[in-house]
Order: sequence, then C-alpha cells, then structure tokens
Amino acid sequence: MQKLVVLTGAGISAESGIRTFRDMGGLWEEYDIMEVASPEGWEKNPVLVQKFYNERRKQLLESEPNRAHRTLVELEKYFDVEIITQNIDDLHERAGSKKVLHLHGELRKAQSTRYPELVYEIDGWEIREDDRCEKGFPLRPHVVWFGELVPAMDSAVEISMSADIFVIIGTSLNVYPAAGLVDYTPDGIPIYLIDPEDIQYYRKQDIKIIKEKAGKGTGVLFEELTGNKLSF
Ligand code: APR
Repeated sequence: MQKLVVLTGAGISAESGIRTFRDMGGLWEEYDIMEVASPEGWEKNPVLVQKFYNERRKQLLESEPNRAHRTLVELEKYFDVEIITQNIDDLHERAGSKKVLHLHGELRKAQSTRYPELVYEIDGWEIREDDRCEKGFPLRPHVVWFGELVPAMDSAVEISMSADIFVIIGTSLNVYPAAGLVDYTPDGIPIYLIDPEDIQYYRKQDIKIIKEKAGKGTGVLFEELTGNKLSF
C-alpha cells in the first residue's frame, strides 16, 4: 500500500464547530496568544490559562467529527494513512483514524508541571486547581505552548520522509516547525493542499490546490486518489 501522509490544522475541525486561530473571528482575535499559550503566560496567570483550556475541552466534548475526518478514515481502505495533526482535539481518533500523531499535544490530557512525562487522561472537561500528579505537583494542560519544544517533531519528520503522497488540510502554515514538514517529503511526490483561502506558501507551484472547505475538499481528493465516489 502507498503511504498517504496528511498534515491537518484547525481548519479540518472548523465544520465540527471548533474555532480556528487566525481566521476572522478566530481565537487569537479574542485572546492574547502569549497570555494563554506560553510558559510565561502560565507563570503569570495559571487560572486564566486553565480556564481557557477548560472551555476548549468543554466545547470539544460537545463536538463531533465531520465529513473530512470520516473521509480520512475511508481512505485507509486504499492507503496506509498516517495523520500528523497540529490539533489538540481528538476528532481524528473519534472518527476512527488508526495512526494519529499529535504535534501540539492533546486537550483531553493533563501533565505534571514538574514531571512532563507524567501524563493523565482528564475525566470530564476540567483540570481543577487542586488536581495533582502522583508526586504531588499541580497539573497543566498537555499542550505544547509557544516557545516549548515539539517532542513529536522527530517522528513527524520521519513520517513525512516516508510519504508517497502528502496532503495538507486546514492550516495557515504560520507555525513552525510544523509548517516546514512538507520540505522533508521526497522530491516529486504529489502534494495536495485543501483550504478555502489562499495560503501563502513559497512552494505553491509544486502543490495541487483544492480551494474548498475540508468536508467538500476531502471528497474531491478521495475521488481523485481512488477513482471512486464517497458514499456519505
Ligand atoms: N475547511 C478547511 N480549512 C479551513 C476551514 C474549513 N472549513 N475553515 C478555515 N480553514 C482554514 C483557514 O483558511 C486557515 O488557513 O484553516 C486554517 C486555519 O489556520 P490557523 O487558524 O492558523 O490554524 P493552524 O494552522 O492549525 O494553527 C497552527 O497555531 O495557535 C497555534 O498551536 C496552535 O496548532 C495551532 C497552530
């Protein structure tokens, strides 16, 4: 089977009702990125940071995977699909995708503030102020903040290097190192980009653009790659 590697961003979850970051009305219009998504912000006001992620988590529990997530599952019948996602939601997993690598962490998990390797599933939607790890330290969201290392990056590079086809869905390609993954793909492989907006990208000439929202765009991709129509 050919390996289909898919890099996803906030846009793939937009049709599930989850807000993106940099679109009009995106989260970074309402919140100061450094206050809620950096170690300095956490240091300054952990209550605000917990509140921000608790709200995101609560909303996630009320959301469902959409057609785009389901189409990527359907593609597993034809390809060895590996998803590298910048998203912290679990909609790929809930749709049924088998191989999902989270570059920026997972919203439904908490980690020890002192021992980051101590990671816990969160029961419900809240990390509470008095929650502690097994060694007695407070818990924080299991999310990679600006200025922090991206521990899954080496695996993501390796996966990108092994791609036969590479697909980018719903990301503004603003945030590195994730945005640079396409540069690790083997020369000459087909690269697709699905996004309803024009994405500024220097390698655009090599990339097949499907200028659609993720739900419709992945349907177009599915037909092009398999020659079949989706049944949903
Ligand atoms: N279908 C597909 N794409 C969409 C849709 C949709 N329905 N709606 C919006 N988009 C596109 C936008 O046009 C934009 O290009 O999704 C992209 C979202 O971009 P960002 O908001 O910048 O999100 P993302 O690229 O995932 O952000 C990367 O930045 O804030 C950090 O850690 C956070 O993982 C995140 C990272």
